[in-house]
Amino acid sequence: MKALVLAGGTGSRLRPLSHSMPKQLVPVANKPVLMHCLDRLSEAGIREVGIIISPERGAAIREAIGDGAALGLDITYIMQDAPLGLAHCVRLARPYLGDDDFVMYLGDNILAGGVLALADRFRARRPAAQVVVTKVPDPRDYGVAEVDAAGRVTRLVEKPATPVSDLALIGVYFFTPAIHEAVAAVQPSARGELEITDAIQWLVSAGSPVTATEFTGYWKDTGRIDDLLECNRVLLEATERRLRGEIDEASEVIGAVAVEPGARIIRSRIVGPAVIGKDSLVVDSYVGQYTSIGGSCVLVGAGIEHSIVLDHVSVRDVRGIHGSLIGRSAEVCVSIGDVARNRLVIGDDTRVEVLS
Ligand code: TTP
Repeated sequence: MKALVLAGGTGSRLRPLSHSMPKQLVPVANKPVLMHCLDRLSEAGIREVGIIISPERGAAIREAIGDGAALGLDITYIMQDAPLGLAHCVRLARPYLGDDDFVMYLGDNILAGGVLALADRFRARRPAAQVVVTKVPDPRDYGVAEVDAAGRVTRLVEKPATPVSDLALIGVYFFTPAIHEAVAAVQPSARGELEITDAIQWLVSAGSPVTATEFTGYWKDTGRIDDLLECNRVLLEATERRLRGEIDEASEVIGAVAVEPGARIIRSRIVGPAVIGKDSLVVDSYVGQYTSIGGSCVLVGAGIEHSIVLDHVSVRDVRGIHGSLIGRSAEVCVSIGDVARNRLVIGDDTRVEVLS
């Protein structure tokens, strides 16, 4: 079985971060979302992976992930010139996929584990398509599957106004080559995309077996900032205490904290679960629970918790940072002098909240 990982798209809901980096490379628990996805595929025994990339952001993905050898994977990149939909990705990948079964995995989705069990179920039964569903409190924002008592899908509905099922589709789909006829048959939807739900519905309508398997583990579509922060919190719960950097006598490191090699903690308090990335410097600071600090950051007189900080960030003399996501090489500081003036150099689509 091959994998088709979708890492193109526009990522408009993740601006401003997605202006300068693909959303699939935003780190969660200090590892890019896409790496979490490749780990799951590797655990499921999959070796051949095709990754859909976009012209704007594809180079960054190639650079970060490479040919997959380090992960035990054989990765092929497939360029999608415009984000024309998930079913369009399957059409494009046809030469790569050939007549193999495959799992299609949305590169911005995080599952905490369990993909092997899903793959085994598919391998054992080989329906034309196996969708993966999870129960959600409000299905109106999701693709929803209506399923009979035998687990067979009877209908798929995209964002139903009055849902008759609480089973939302998550971003992992298993297909036999039967999907290729379906993706060739569908027409663009009202939003101009070739929808994978339409292609799967086409299979259902044609009488092909389409099953739904429930996933009960942790799953998140990391399309928005708050999703990333929640995901970071959940994945950091699994942090093991591992202090590989330098910690001075005046510092206190409590609980499940990973301090990566080359990091230095001086006169600071770190409360886990938290990660301090490699070569970062933390001086006279507090790093609280559910915080990931990237590599080569400098925190001096800083206080931060429930946040994601990317590489090369500097935070000086700003405390009380909470629920924040700070992009690469950003500087957060207090200027000394005229307190009536705040100097802000902020990129497009950025959000800054200042306490009044
Ligand atoms: P989405 O999150 O549905 O789309 P998007 O990336 O355009 O995001 P936004 O709505 O915030 O603008 O896409 C799910 C995943 O599939 C994501 O990893 C991007 C990828 N994708 C493609 O590779 N090609 C496509 O044509 C589309 C629509 C998505």
